[in-house]
Amino acid sequence: MMQEISRRPIGIFDSGLGGLSAVREIRTLLPRETLVYFGDTGRVPYGTRSTQTIRRYAAQDIRFLLSHADCKAVVVACGTVSANALDVLCAENDIPIIGVIDPAVTAAQHATKNGRIGVIATPSTIASGAYERALHRVDPTISVTSAACALFVPLVENGFVDADDPIPRLTAERYLEPIRASGADTLILGCTHYPLLAPVISRVLPDVTLIDTGREAAHRLHALLTERNLHTASDTPGSSSFFVSDEPQGFANAAARFLGISPEEGLPAVSRINIEEY
Ligand code: DGL
Repeated sequence: MMQEISRRPIGIFDSGLGGLSAVREIRTLLPRETLVYFGDTGRVPYGTRSTQTIRRYAAQDIRFLLSHADCKAVVVACGTVSANALDVLCAENDIPIIGVIDPAVTAAQHATKNGRIGVIATPSTIASGAYERALHRVDPTISVTSAACALFVPLVENGFVDADDPIPRLTAERYLEPIRASGADTLILGCTHYPLLAPVISRVLPDVTLIDTGREAAHRLHALLTERNLHTASDTPGSSSFFVSDEPQGFANAAARFLGISPEEGLPAVSRINIEEY
């Protein structure tokens, strides 16, 4: 018998572990939902690749989620995929798909007081101009300053996220100089890896409001489930399962840290799949 739609899981994917920033928020906002996460750890980073390659990878990622879990909705917890492939994913799949750009733009528009907004993201997200276009769609008078931060994803993937560590701090100072100079009072962390660097970024830009794209996407998901009457009827906590395309151990450790899972609870189960089969 077909599973009632509202009981089906929510799919979430990213190029690696950055999308866990969205998982953390979704688990807080929607604790009874079942989540299935795919992190393409074998092919990360996406953010330095061509649009064509990002689209091919994203199509495989969503095919895996839908064939594995028959999801009722999918969150594209990756700024790079949201900027370069969301339109194609929405056109090709008949389920609600939420990207990170529009929710972050709405939050930034509400947060700014001086109308100056900074955007930091991967090189391919910045090159796509997607954030800038979306910001100007909601308000053409907003002044946008963008900066591509190519080294941030490798720093996060390798655990260099401590605000007292000179390596991420000096890197952030270099990348964030144009944002500081623009006088922006609000900064969109346009890549889902970047919330892990929020303490470092806040040290460099202490008076700037940071917009966490994963958190905003989680709120949009909540609203969508409400609108379409798709909240699960289950009254027990939902499970989360994790899949990756490379060795699972490093991801399991990072996921535990990231999601605040204590050592007593044990590491989350993470399975490896061959994404090229999808
Ligand atoms: N977390 C991803 C993003 O939001 C991508 C990082 C990458 O793969 O380059 O853009």
